[in-house]
Amino acid sequence: MVETRCKFWRATTLAAVLFLPVWVHAERSIGDISIVAGHPGLQEWLLPDRPPYPEGNKPNAARVSLGRMLFFDPRLSGDGNMSCATCHNPMFGWSDGLPTARGFQSQVLGRATPTIINTAYNELQMWDGRKHSLEDQAMGPLEAGVEMNMLVDELVDWLQGNKGYRSAFALAYPGEEIDGTTASKAIASFERTIVSRDSLFDAWVRGDPSAMTAAQVNGFKVFLDPGKGNCAACHQAPNFTDDGFHNLGLSSSSDEEADPGRYAQKPIRLMQGAFKTPTLRDVARTAPYFHDGSAATLAEVVDHYVRGGDVKDNLSPNMKVLSITDEEKHDLIAFLHALNSPEQATVLPTLPEGGPVSWAAWRPQPKKDRAVAHNE
Ligand code: HEC
Ligand code: HEC
Repeated sequence: MVETRCKFWRATTLAAVLFLPVWVHAERSIGDISIVAGHPGLQEWLLPDRPPYPEGNKPNAARVSLGRMLFFDPRLSGDGNMSCATCHNPMFGWSDGLPTARGFQSQVLGRATPTIINTAYNELQMWDGRKHSLEDQAMGPLEAGVEMNMLVDELVDWLQGNKGYRSAFALAYPGEEIDGTTASKAIASFERTIVSRDSLFDAWVRGDPSAMTAAQVNGFKVFLDPGKGNCAACHQAPNFTDDGFHNLGLSSSSDEEADPGRYAQKPIRLMQGAFKTPTLRDVARTAPYFHDGSAATLAEVVDHYVRGGDVKDNLSPNMKVLSITDEEKHDLIAFLHALNSPEQATVLPTLPEGGPVSWAAWRPQPKKDRAVAHNE
């Protein structure tokens, strides 16, 4: 609750306005009139056309193009084989299709790879919100020993020595150094182009009644209705998140070495085992689900909510056993599919010539030692 923003009250008020008549009259007719394509009360679900960006990093074509190169370049990793896109892969909705991420030399990491779709609209980054902006976040995985395992100093030397990158940086950030800061700014500018705000749901909200099926419209009602799905209590307009943290009672939260989640940043009891509410836009493309990858499908996610969570200790007050029919469950899942953006081709960069960063460190060594070092 402490972490929940005023958007919560906006959404709660909206839900109350839309459903109060349903509760009062014990019928759906008045509520049904409100949940119609193009209704003014629903326009808050549309995302702003352009995501916000911080001062000093206004996106432009040169910045996005440099950021795309850095994002897809595996030479930036310690082994020369892993890029941001290894885990945030456009073919898997900018995630990796794995329950939890595989890091440096394939070790299994503790948390699932979140999509980078719409992270541009996040107030905080990471499952526990420990990063404040995309710029803050970008050097983290490069330096992490368990992820790309690269030294930023070495990376910066390499970028400064690479002709193609030198001119790309000069175009993107004229007069600024080539360093971790400008590299982060470029990556963040690229990430701000990975957005989903043009789904069939958005078309329906804008006023096209045929954009969603009757089942999907009904699924949206279940989603909003505090007496049914109650999903919008946390997955709020417009990006289907409240930028808050909640304990959903996943079974992994009773493990002996359970992930503390937000508690590591905010040591108050309610935050123990609480994780950030993820966006649901494009969610049908990013299975498996939850921070621990414990739900293989959207149906398993919904079943978890229907049970009201598995570990009831320290559960979010908004988690309760749901009374919804099988048909409503089906409609809810159909609705989640309406949040997919249209398929679009991903533009891959042509990378500047030159070997991996780590080759620069290997080059002075005699061939024999290099082979030994490599086998260790
Ligand atoms: C080994 C896999 C892996 C690689 C490589 C990787 N990431 Fe991630 N990324 C993750 C995981 C796992 C998380 C969640 C970690 C956490 O919450 O503690 C994450 C979180 C993020 C987030 C926060 C998303 C959100 O919704 O909070 C962003 C942004 C991001 N990564 C961008 C990048 C960038 C940029 C790179 C390259 C410089 C990169 N990642 C490289 C696995 C990876
Ligand atoms: C109490 C707040 C809350 C409510 C209510 C809630 N969610 Fe969530 N949702 C979250 C949080 C927090 C997560 C991430 C939890 C984690 O991984 O530990 C999440 C995760 C998800 C995911 C997985 C997304 C991913 O990328 O892994 C889906 C899908 C989802 N919720 C759909 C729903 C639906 C449908 C409902 C209504 C039946 C609902 N949620 C109700 C807070 C909530």
